[in-house]
Amino acid sequence: MRKMMELYRGKTKTLYSTDEPDLLVLEFRDDISALDGKRVDQFYRKGLINNKLNYFIMSKLQKAGIPTQIKELYSHNATLVKNLKMVPLEFVLRNRAAGSLVKRLGIKEGTVLCPPVFDLFFKNDGKHDPMVNSSYCKTFGWVSQHHLLCMRKIIFQSNDILNTLFSEIGVILVDFKLEFGIWKDKVVLGDEFSPDSARLWDKKTLNKMDKDLYRQAQVGLIEAYEEVANRLGVKLD
Ligand code: TMP
Repeated sequence: MRKMMELYRGKTKTLYSTDEPDLLVLEFRDDISALDGKRVDQFYRKGLINNKLNYFIMSKLQKAGIPTQIKELYSHNATLVKNLKMVPLEFVLRNRAAGSLVKRLGIKEGTVLCPPVFDLFFKNDGKHDPMVNSSYCKTFGWVSQHHLLCMRKIIFQSNDILNTLFSEIGVILVDFKLEFGIWKDKVVLGDEFSPDSARLWDKKTLNKMDKDLYRQAQVGLIEAYEEVANRLGVKLD
């Protein structure tokens, strides 16, 4: 499979076409960003770590029956993926209060949320990814109600699988974000699952092992991401 033209360059990942129209190369760069792209930095090896971590997690979900975009690892920092028609929404599931939920409601960080809270955001950096709901999706035609329900079901299923996986390695899955696309009229999980798009806390110390280290200008980001990979048994070299 040959990587061809750059199709889309996001804040941390780049999509390339291949000589097979149904397949793309999803490349994880070393970039990291915050404040809707206003703050950007690079961390050596982040692309590699997130690519391998994402491939590992997506493979687990796939094996558990969740349709995902991944086909195979393409290189140390890229994965061959299905060419989905992406839905412009971010699906967030929260097991504990953190981030924007704490800011919005004034709930103490770390409060257990039972049942977990589901949030939906419209992907638009200029408008700071505003919160929306199913009624907006219908009115603006972002996704059908049937597909939206499938996506909601999949994020809750993924939460069960990932809660078990992370609990076994002494990590609390605080919250995470997923994105979906449509492939042959079926819902497929796309984009990524990595410490860039989830909050992961060490169970014993409650130390952060995710992008909040960057958002809050703390040290040890790559070491934390590597620790997550090592505990999961993901081979990085
Ligand atoms: P939030 O607390 O900022 O709403 O974020 C909830 C989770 O979603 C957190 O794990 C980070 C992730 N997330 C992204 O990956 N990308 C985004 O653009 C946003 C807003 C959140």
